[in-house]
Amino acid sequence: MPRLSVVLLLASGVRLAAAATAQVFAAPSKGPLMQTANYTSFSNSTLKDKVTCKGKAFNRIIQVWLENTNFATTASTPIFESLAEQGILLTNYNGVTHPSQPNYVAAIGGDFFGMHGDNMYHIPSNISTVVDLLEDKGVSWASYQENMPADGFYGVNYKAKNYLFPGSADYPYYVRKHNALMTYDAVSQDAKRVKRIRTFNDFANDVVNGTLPQWVFVTPNIVNDAHDTTIDFAASFLEYWLLPLLTDSRVNDGETLILLTFDETETYTIRNNVFAVLLGGAIPLNLRGTTDDTLYTHYSSLSTVQANWGLKSLGRQDTIANVSNVFSFVADKTGYKNVKVPADQVPQFNQIGVVPGALSSIHFVPFAAPDLKACGAGGGSVFTRPGLNTELTVALLPPPVNLLALNKTTPWQMSPRTTSGKSIIPCADATCV
Ligand SMILES: *[C@@H]1O[C@H](CO)[C@@H](O)[C@H](O)[C@H]1NC(C)=O
Ligand SMILES: *[C@@H]1O[C@H](CO)[C@@H](O)[C@H](O)[C@H]1NC(C)=O
Ligand SMILES: *[C@@H]1O[C@H](CO)[C@@H](O)[C@H](O)[C@H]1NC(C)=O
Ligand SMILES: *[C@@H]1O[C@H](CO)[C@@H](O)[C@H](O)[C@H]1NC(C)=O
Ligand SMILES: *[C@@H]1O[C@H](CO)[C@@H](O)[C@H](O)[C@H]1NC(C)=O
Ligand SMILES: *[C@@H]1O[C@H](CO)[C@@H](O)[C@H](O)[C@H]1NC(C)=O
Repeated sequence: MPRLSVVLLLASGVRLAAAATAQVFAAPSKGPLMQTANYTSFSNSTLKDKVTCKGKAFNRIIQVWLENTNFATTASTPIFESLAEQGILLTNYNGVTHPSQPNYVAAIGGDFFGMHGDNMYHIPSNISTVVDLLEDKGVSWASYQENMPADGFYGVNYKAKNYLFPGSADYPYYVRKHNALMTYDAVSQDAKRVKRIRTFNDFANDVVNGTLPQWVFVTPNIVNDAHDTTIDFAASFLEYWLLPLLTDSRVNDGETLILLTFDETETYTIRNNVFAVLLGGAIPLNLRGTTDDTLYTHYSSLSTVQANWGLKSLGRQDTIANVSNVFSFVADKTGYKNVKVPADQVPQFNQIGVVPGALSSIHFVPFAAPDLKACGAGGGSVFTRPGLNTELTVALLPPPVNLLALNKTTPWQMSPRTTSGKSIIPCADATCV
């Protein structure tokens, strides 16, 4: 979605003086490990996770996603330039479509199921996600969502006290469209799992207690991630939030990998090439300050964790080799062979509404089973969840139906509601195997 214009800011009740200084970052707290009332509710719980599953290239991965910025814009912004000098700059990392939401959905479930909008959807519980793969091996996980008001909050957004312009209208700092784990019923309808969709106050609590999990997905709020603001605003946020954590061993120990990237480009007409940098103690010393031009997409974060921990796969785009290369330094340590895609054959990854799927209103087809014969980077089999009709393969799907022309919404689109669902799937306690 386009950034808020000044006109919209005015229309939404922000004072003129405020609009004139709309792009100035202000810290929501005294520091990334200090809880704040700006985040609505304080932490009630602490995870009890320990690093139990050793990976081949890292023991923890932390993904931090920012929003809507072209590669060139980010790459010429000082903080990002200096971060690139400390890590591996991935020059050929791509979003998979537009707008925002399907990119997040893709990185969690290995597909975006034809989704081409930011509306509120849910994905049935027979569809697997990275969480199934991690729990299957006993790898701990959590997502931290800045300004989400409570753990596992189900609503489409949350308007909190405006901390940038005190006295102005409440602001929707949290948006569900950047929190894809909540979109999957396999997570959001499971009472135990949904508690792992946590607030930033929980992040502070978990880090201070030394219980940060092994797979972590971080979504900054909609001003700090550059969505409603600028790359310079996001740069100030990183200076406040990420830089101190890089030198904190409770977050970044010698075995931690950090992927800092963006969901999609701001310009929809160019290749969906976003800035991505690998940071953290797990980066071999001789590779710090280097670049890697291997073709990667959001599916690469799935194949990379599969390779690292020897996980099963989702049997979706995460097992299509030419769009799911494993980050090279991890591929080298795990013996995975990446595919070299010639530059002139790299797609734009910018098409909208052309892919058939259960979340498409233009080319609607039901959810299909994953490809059970697929082999992922972890070498394991394809994970299947209860209720999956394994016979319903892509080849057997009926022809697509244009719901838009019929003036219908997809069966998986929903009106916003603000209560969390009940547990329908018991979650087994996995151990590291
Ligand atoms: C909320 O953030 C604003 C802006 O930085 C800051 O002035 C204020 O002190 C914060 N409030 C709390 C309770 O931390
Ligand atoms: C802590 O518990 C209270 C009461 O149940 C709830 O309102 C609040 O949102 C919880 N905090 C978090 C971070 O979930
Ligand atoms: C976690 O840390 C908080 C301080 O942030 C403390 O109040 C709490 O008791 C700790 N919890 C555990 C289980 O150690
Ligand atoms: C990947 O391979 C498939 C099948 O050969 C092809 O259709 C697709 O265009 C390729 N994609 C890339 C990114 O090379
Ligand atoms: C998945 O579950 C949904 C909801 O129950 C059902 O409509 C769909 O047919 C199932 N798909 C597969 C492939 O099992
Ligand atoms: C589409 O459906 C909505 C709600 O059901 C209705 O208000 C609208 O008039 C319909 N539009 C067309 C073009 O039929």
